[in-house]
Amino acid sequence: MLIRGGRLVDPALGIDALRDVRMTDVIVEIGEHLEPAPGEKIFDVKEAVVAPGFVDMHVHLRDPGDPQKETFETGGAAALHGGFTAVACMPNTRPALDDPAILDDLLRRVETSAVGLPHIYPIAAITRNRAGKELCDYPSLARSGAVAFSDDGAAVADGSVLQAAAHAALGVSGPFISHCENAALKSLSAALSECSVVARDLRVARATGKAWHFAHISTRMGVELLRFARRSGTTVTAEVTPHHLLCTQDEARSLGTAAAVNPPLADTQDARALRDAVRDGVIDVFASDHAPHTEAEKRGPDPPPGFSGLELALGAYAAALPDLPLLRFVEMLSWAPARILGIPGGTLRRGSAADITVFRDEPWRVDARALVSKGKVTPFDGWTLPRRAIATIVHGRLLYDARAASPT
Ligand code: DOR
Repeated sequence: MLIRGGRLVDPALGIDALRDVRMTDVIVEIGEHLEPAPGEKIFDVKEAVVAPGFVDMHVHLRDPGDPQKETFETGGAAALHGGFTAVACMPNTRPALDDPAILDDLLRRVETSAVGLPHIYPIAAITRNRAGKELCDYPSLARSGAVAFSDDGAAVADGSVLQAAAHAALGVSGPFISHCENAALKSLSAALSECSVVARDLRVARATGKAWHFAHISTRMGVELLRFARRSGTTVTAEVTPHHLLCTQDEARSLGTAAAVNPPLADTQDARALRDAVRDGVIDVFASDHAPHTEAEKRGPDPPPGFSGLELALGAYAAALPDLPLLRFVEMLSWAPARILGIPGGTLRRGSAADITVFRDEPWRVDARALVSKGKVTPFDGWTLPRRAIATIVHGRLLYDARAASPT
C-alpha cells in the first residue's frame, strides 16, 4: 500500500514534512511524490497527519474476568477507533495478571482471535493478587510477555515490600509503574495522598536503580516532586490522562458518578500545572487509563472509579494542548511509550513494522452511547473535540478506516 499526500510526523526521524509512505507489513520507503507501482493499493490522505502508530501504555481490558465490562476484543476495537496500534493492559483483572500461565492464556487468545487487533502487551502485577504482600516471579512473567509491572488500581502499601520487589526485578526489563494514591491519606487530601507515594517511589527507584514510571499524575505537587527528582538526576518517566488535563472537581460535581475516577479529578490549577509539565517535558507520555465499567455500575449507588478513554483520548489531548508542536504531540503517543516499555514501534524508519496512525484536525462530537467500547460512560460525553483518528494500520493492515465507519 502507498499512503499518499499526508504530512509525515516522525519524532525519531526528525521529520515533519509532506511525504508518501510505501509499506508491506513493514515500512518499505518514505519519499516525496512516490510513484505507485502497478497494482499497488493507494490511500490518499491529503490534509491528514501520518504518524508512527500510537501506543496507549495504560488501559484496562478487563480480561480475564469481566467480559460484561470489556474484553481484549472490544477494548482492542476501541483502541483501533481511537488511533492506537498498541496498548498495554493493566493486571487488575480477575484473576490478576500475576502468573505466567494467566499471561500465556491471554496472549494465546489474542493471537488466535479472528478479529483484527492492535498489539496487546500485558503489564503484570508486582505482588500476588495485587495484595501487596508476596512478590511475583518477574523473570517468568517477562518471559511470558510482561512489558512492565504494576499493582495499578492501588499503590503497594508497604514500602519495604516494594523495595524488595524492585531488587528482585532488577535484571528484568520493563519498568515498575506506580499508582500514586496513599489510601490512608486520601480522605485528608488527594494531593498529599499522591505526593506521599510519588516521594516514596522516587526514593525506591533511586535506591534500587530499577526503571520506573509514574502513572496518571494528577496534582501540581506531584508534578513538582517529579521536576525536583529530574533536577537531582533521578531518571524516571511519567504519564498524564486526558481527564486530568481537562476536567476539574467543578465538572466532577456536575457530572456526578460519571466522573468518579482514581486518582480523582483535581482543580483548575492542577490541570494547568499538568499541561505545563507536558510542555516543559516533566511529563513524557499521554495515556488514557481507559477503565470501562458497565453503565448500570456507573449509575448505581456505589460507582466504581474510571471510564472509557481510548476513543476520545486523541481529541482530548489536542483540546488540552492546542499549542503543543505536532512532533512533540506524536512523540508522547508513540516514540516515548514504545521506548519506556521496550516494545517495537514508535517510528516509521524503513524496515520497522508498518504500524501507522493517520489523524486529522476535524471537530467531532463525543457520543458516549456510540462508543465501540463496552464502557459507555465518559466525562467527555457531548464535548466537541478538535482532532480524530481517520485510519489505524497494524502491520500494514488497515484495521480502522473512518471513511468506512459512520461519522459521529
Ligand atoms: O479510575 C480508575 N479505574 N483508576 C484506577 O487506577 C483503576 C481503574 C479501574 O481499573 O477501574
